[in-house]
This record gives sequence, structure tokens and C-alpha cells, in this order.
Amino acid sequence: MPSPRKLLAAMQGAAAALHGGGLVAFPTETVYGLGADAENPAAVARIFAAKGRPADHPLIVHIANPDQLTHWAKDIPPAAWLLARRCWPGPLTLILRRACRVPDIVTGGQDTVGLRVPDHPLALALIEASGGGIAAPSANRFGRVSPTTAAHVREELGAAMDFILDGGPCRVGIESTILDLSGHQPRLLRPGAITIAGIEAVLGQPIAQPGSHAPRAPGMLRSHYAPKTPVCLVPAAHLEAEARRRLAQGQRVAALTMSATLLPEACLRQDMPTHQTGWARELYARLRAVDAQGSDCILIEEPPIGADWQAVRDRLERAASAHGASGEFLSMGRQPF
Ligand code: TXA
Ligand code: MG
Repeated sequence: MPSPRKLLAAMQGAAAALHGGGLVAFPTETVYGLGADAENPAAVARIFAAKGRPADHPLIVHIANPDQLTHWAKDIPPAAWLLARRCWPGPLTLILRRACRVPDIVTGGQDTVGLRVPDHPLALALIEASGGGIAAPSANRFGRVSPTTAAHVREELGAAMDFILDGGPCRVGIESTILDLSGHQPRLLRPGAITIAGIEAVLGQPIAQPGSHAPRAPGMLRSHYAPKTPVCLVPAAHLEAEARRRLAQGQRVAALTMSATLLPEACLRQDMPTHQTGWARELYARLRAVDAQGSDCILIEEPPIGADWQAVRDRLERAASAHGASGEFLSMGRQPF
């Protein structure tokens, strides 16, 4: 851990970069963000350029506490206040009707804005030091897996960055839950560590979930969060046979597994945790590691079906969708997410 003096100096440098219209990568509890001053359209434009992200994919504005909601949103429903007070700081993004001051470039021209208070001391200190909101997507190239360490950010986007704050590995590891509160009924747009059951318990009402093929948030493409190597989701019972089949075809095979499945020696094996929080925390770093080893395919043992695994399964299914015919599902029992 750097000394408090070094941390303070880093924070001042990062806040100065934001004030000057620069880009700062910073840790959150979910993944690293690529931040700019949310009220500076020219600075926000640099985010889109650095990521190679289409202009109609809106950004989340990171704020320091629930009281700042009124600065960014209007017609805020009671459900938003309830969730903000119970779940923030935390991995939940709320979509609300936007206040006029929110630049079009942040919202992709929509009349809503995504807001969240991240649960990370460096992120909160940076937002406080900047004195405003920080517009930030995940700090990866468009469509790729999100970074969960500062080293991932450096590798992928280092040259485009004015400052990288290193807060160590992210605790949650996958992106925040996104809940749309701008319509008649609360609607889940992206599953995350805050579960539907958790949200329903706070609100005391059911929330709507789109099916996997229904249109979702702009930017929520089915093929997203993908490593460079094609991914195939395989039920545990078929993992060994599938690995052998591909090895016999001369493929270099990597496998992410959570059970004590016997795999051929030639397989580059990554043993995953058995609990969903560990899976989420490790997933993106493992996919990056496998990419770096240069395999022809990544076989991923399908995690269990069930509400606790919804967010992990969502990311895995997107990763498997990214490579068209070469990314596949061998699964029989798929859930909507
Ligand atoms: O955990 C997270 O949410 C991370 C950290 C850095 O906070 N951020 C993140 O941002 O994952 P990004 O841009 O990679 O994903 C945000 C998603 C996008 O799919 C975008 O379409 C959606 O949020 N989103 C943002 N604003 C929205 C809006 N007004 N309406 C609908 N969807 C929105
Ligand atoms: Mg992203």
C-alpha cells in the first residue's frame, strides 16, 4: 500500500487531470473505470475515442453520495431514493430521467442518465476531489472484457490515459447491476452483484426482466465482454470429452473449470472458485490470462443455474456469443440471462 502522502499526491494529480479535461482510470469495487469530468463534453468525447466506443452508448455518471442525485436527475421516484440509501455506495446503477445540465454526449442523446456511487475509497476520494460527477465506462477497448487491475488498464489503454490510480484488484470483478427506474415499472437492464431478489426485498415490488433476446440498454450487445479467444460454454459432464475432441483436431485448448473434472494434460487448465462471488472476482483476469497464452478456444464449464449465478452466466453467455459460429453453447438448460 502506498503511503498516505503518496496517495494524497496521486489524488491531487488525478483531480487536476480531470479539471484540465483529461482522462483518469480509477478503481471501483466492480471494475476499473475510464473517467472524465461529466460536465465537460470535450473531455467525455475523449473517452469514446480512447475506447473506440460508438457515440450512442451512454455512460454512467459516478457521484459521491445520494444527495447529488438531484443535480443529475429529475422526477426522481421514491424507489430511487430507497435503493440509493440502502445500496450505495455499491454495485448498483440507477437509470433516471436526466436533468438538463447533463451533456448529450454522456447520455447518448437519451432523456435518461445512469448514476451510481461506487464502493471504493479511491473512487469516492477522486469524485470528492474533482468536485463534480465522473462519467466513466469500464476502462477497456469497446466489446472487450473489463479490467479488474491497474495493469490491465495499462496494457489495453495506457497510452490514452493522463493518469491511472492503482487501487489493487477489484473486489466484485464484474460490472454493476443496472436498474431502469425511468418507466412505469422498475426494469433490470444488466444483472450484477446486487441481485433481483435483493432489489425486490428493498422495494417490496417485483421488477421486470427482459428475455435474453429482447432489446436492452443501448450498449448491451449480446456479444460483449469477450476475450479474443473464442469461448464455448460446456456442461461439466461433457467437458472432458469436448476437450479431447478438440485436442484430437489439433486445437490448443484452454479450460476454466470449477469441478474436479479430469482433463487431458495438454489442456491449459484454470481452476475456478466454487462460489459465485469468487467466480465473478476472478473471471476477467482468467480470461485475459488465457488470451495471453494463445489458445484456439476456451472451454468454460457451465456454472449452476440459479439466481445467485445470473450475473456470471450473463457475462459468460455474452463472451460465448462474441465469435459467431466459433463461440458456442453446448448447454441444454439455458436461462434468460
Ligand atoms: O460497474 C460498472 O457499472 C462499471 C464501473 C466503472 O462503474 N461501469 C461500466 O460502464 O460497466 P460501461 O459503460 O462499460 O457499461 C455501462 C452500461 C452500458 O451498457 C450503457 O449502455 C448502460 O450502462 N447505460 C448507461 N447509461 C444508460 C442510460 N441512460 N440508459 C440505459 N443504459 C445506460
Ligand atoms: Mg463496459
